[in-house]
Amino acid sequence: MAYQHIIVTKEQGYAIAQLNRPDVLNALNMKLMAELVEALEALDKDEDVRCVIITGNEKAFAAGADIKEMADASAMDMLVRDMFARWDRIRKIKKPIIAAVSGFALGGGCELSMTCDIIIASETAKFGQPEINIGVMPGAGGTQRLTRAVGKAKAMEIVLTGKMISAQEALQWGLINKIVPVEYYLQEAKDLAKEIASKPPMAVRLAKEAVLKAFDTTIEAGLEYERKNFYLLFASDDQKEGMKAFVDKRKPEWKGR
Ligand code: HXC
Repeated sequence: MAYQHIIVTKEQGYAIAQLNRPDVLNALNMKLMAELVEALEALDKDEDVRCVIITGNEKAFAAGADIKEMADASAMDMLVRDMFARWDRIRKIKKPIIAAVSGFALGGGCELSMTCDIIIASETAKFGQPEINIGVMPGAGGTQRLTRAVGKAKAMEIVLTGKMISAQEALQWGLINKIVPVEYYLQEAKDLAKEIASKPPMAVRLAKEAVLKAFDTTIEAGLEYERKNFYLLFASDDQKEGMKAFVDKRKPEWKGR
């Protein structure tokens, strides 16, 4: 599938979706978001792909939603565009998604990285929710996912001042997983994707679901959900193979079933 604003490449076991509007620091216009969601859903169905990386370029992961596209919109225009429906579809992707971030991850760019499951950042990465500086506020999860990741105090500071935070601060505050030198951030994400791709896919899928469940349920219901997924995996060939291989002291061979 040929896209205008993203580049999708498949490697052994994983795929990369690269945001590709470098002239505008990968500002997320509606076309780019439509393409990204379409690509992610196709990769989610592709049995050769077990993990997806979303990345930008060295200078920018994404500097937010496209301000020029929104500037003259009325509230009704925004309602009709229903741009957040696409973001809800990203949340429903079953395979793990790694954000490989370098440079600016601002506004919708920061929100997109937080919609991913793991964030690998280059040492030049800068995160922030600068919407307050242009008369609005985060709209794609910035007040919710950021607060859950870094807590109320830091989230308030980031959202109310619009200031950027460094990769180092983002790591200290629990927003991201790892910082690597700029030459290696994509390679680091690829290595991680390869590692995840080598695990039994059904267990990966149900484990991702269960971790995400922790964000929108009580501990009681979350534990129940976890338990059901745990039991369900005993219906998989890979559970039989994984445990038998352990007992036989050999490497398991996953079927993905
Ligand atoms: C449209 C953008 C853009 C954006 C940058 N550009 N960010 N265009 N929407 N979000 C364009 C600039 O207009 C410029 O195009 C080119 O990219 C390079 O940007 P510069 O500003 O010249 O680069 P620099 O001086 O290095 O400054 C980088 C920057 C700044 C600090 C990241 O570009 C900036 O503040 N951008 C806006 C960040 C922001 O407010 N994001 C939140 C958006 S609202 P030209 O044609 O002039 O060369 C949002 C809401 C989310 O995300 C809601 C859910 C989706």
